[in-house]
Amino acid sequence: MITLDQQIAAIKIIPIITLEHAQDIIPLAKTLIENDLNIAEITFRSNAAVEGIRLLRETHPDMLIGAGTVLNREQAIMAKKAGANFIVSPGFNPNTVIACQEIGIDIIPGVNNPTTVELALEMGLTTLKFFPAEASGGINMLKALLAPYTQVKFIPTGGITQENINDYLAIERVLACGGSWMVEQNLIQEGRWDEIGKRAKAAVNLKK
Ligand code: 3PG
Repeated sequence: MITLDQQIAAIKIIPIITLEHAQDIIPLAKTLIENDLNIAEITFRSNAAVEGIRLLRETHPDMLIGAGTVLNREQAIMAKKAGANFIVSPGFNPNTVIACQEIGIDIIPGVNNPTTVELALEMGLTTLKFFPAEASGGINMLKALLAPYTQVKFIPTGGITQENINDYLAIERVLACGGSWMVEQNLIQEGRWDEIGKRAKAAVNLKK
């Protein structure tokens, strides 16, 4: 069986989406898939998250779907029921991790210092989101965290752009990068699928 890590590592870019209207996920997913991004993280920063995940799962049974900004057990349960493949949280919340382990869904929690890395390791997690990447010291901090924890793989997120993504992806044990730059909220709200497609294509071409 292909693991979540392997699936994410094969795509390398996770578009992080906040939906105002759940239905926007339909043209948005079409645009992402046309540009070889068969993955989407839909955040719980808006009320449309659960319906957006449900719609995406219904229309794209094979798409890799993450639920982002998951802050508690209730949201993790709703995300799983709606069809998410994995959960992402901005920080390391042991209660959310326990909930995900109990209901049987992978979680990638956010960390940005040695203490939280060790707490995550103790709970059996070795794939972690490095968040907020740029504000936490960027590549220097990431390398400093990778050094002692040889079993950990990171997904840097927060401040990743077309300009810096390749510097992150070049680092060993960086599985992928996450970011909203190609799916900015205002572009979704204005239905600017062409611009989103252009940004997605540019990002995908960079990593080639
Ligand atoms: C997240 O939810 O992980 C971040 O908001 C993504 O960060 P970015 O908006 O700086 O890409």
